[in-house]
Amino acid sequence: MVINVFQIAKQKFLEHFNNMNKKHNEYNMTTAALAVAKENLHKNGYLDLEVDPTLDLVAEINKLKKEKNMIILAHYYQESEIQDVADYIGDSLGLSQKAANTEADIIVFAGVHFMAETAKMLNPKKTVLLPDLKAGCSLADSCPPHLFKKFKAKYPDHVVISYINCTAELKTLTDVCCTSTNAKTIVESVPKDKGIIFAPDKNLGAWLIKKTGRDLVLWNGACMVHEIFSNEKITKLQIRHPEAKFIAHPECEAHILDKADFIGSTSQLINFTQENDSKEFIVATESGILHQMQLKSPDKTFIPAPPNNTCACNNCPFMKRNTMEKLYLTMKYNLPEVTLSNEVIKKGLPSITKMLEISKAAGL
Ligand code: 13P
Ligand code: SF4
Repeated sequence: MVINVFQIAKQKFLEHFNNMNKKHNEYNMTTAALAVAKENLHKNGYLDLEVDPTLDLVAEINKLKKEKNMIILAHYYQESEIQDVADYIGDSLGLSQKAANTEADIIVFAGVHFMAETAKMLNPKKTVLLPDLKAGCSLADSCPPHLFKKFKAKYPDHVVISYINCTAELKTLTDVCCTSTNAKTIVESVPKDKGIIFAPDKNLGAWLIKKTGRDLVLWNGACMVHEIFSNEKITKLQIRHPEAKFIAHPECEAHILDKADFIGSTSQLINFTQENDSKEFIVATESGILHQMQLKSPDKTFIPAPPNNTCACNNCPFMKRNTMEKLYLTMKYNLPEVTLSNEVIKKGLPSITKMLEISKAAGL
């Protein structure tokens, strides 16, 4: 009897010891993997760590939000699971307005780099996280600031309006930013006798020339996602769905916009599908938007407008770099963080605050 008690105690001790050892080894492995992931953060753009596939990511993300007073701001182009776990989903204007007013200590941006930079400019003292630093934007890339500086020098008396889809550095060369929701209002806020340079999106710029009758000097940039729609395939789709309304984002090319029943920003497109009586919509913008359209109008059908390639839908490869796993890791380790120099913030911020002021005055 005495021996048995001794043996059981010994066995329990060994089990405990083995468990501790296992945990210790796991801890060491995790710490080592984290150190490597941090070292490679800028090369990869994100923390390249394995995530336990059995983990309930939604529950973990919600727990981290509360523990760290974090807010997740997501653009409509994010994958649906990310939209579902976000605290706020919106277009570029809504996201900037929300970022300007949040009480959260940490802003987690489920969007692309220029959006997180804008949030950082508006909140220089807060931590702004982006799940993948390589979630860039072809439109922002199409306007390198050093070249734009030379272009701007040719029109010294002009006001510079930049679409918010541009780098923080470009914002330092900008008088006022705009988004697709407020672009017309911002252009019209400039006195009629003043010349305007509009950058970087030539398609949005050309549409604004038509809408406002103003003679804008355009930078020759574009978004690869909105430039790829096939006119021919859209026409065929319209023949097959004669009742469908064709709606498009103003980043699309003029020949696509000319066919549209309605043109608007992502939030305006969503509103249109809710308010319009049609039961079918062909949608020419990034396909992530279809998730909110479908949630808001479950009885309607949404068809992504076909692009000029073999892909069936239209995804932004930058927006889609963010995944639930990367979002979770970002929130767990507070990395990667978006940082900006004080000088860039000081010079770039007025272009955003001015945009927000004009939008507020216009009731946007
Ligand atoms: P909005 O969110 O202003 O509609 O712009 C769409 C876009 O291209 C964001 O990258
Ligand atoms: Fe940039 Fe176009 Fe992607 Fe928007 S959809 S983030 S403009 S590349």
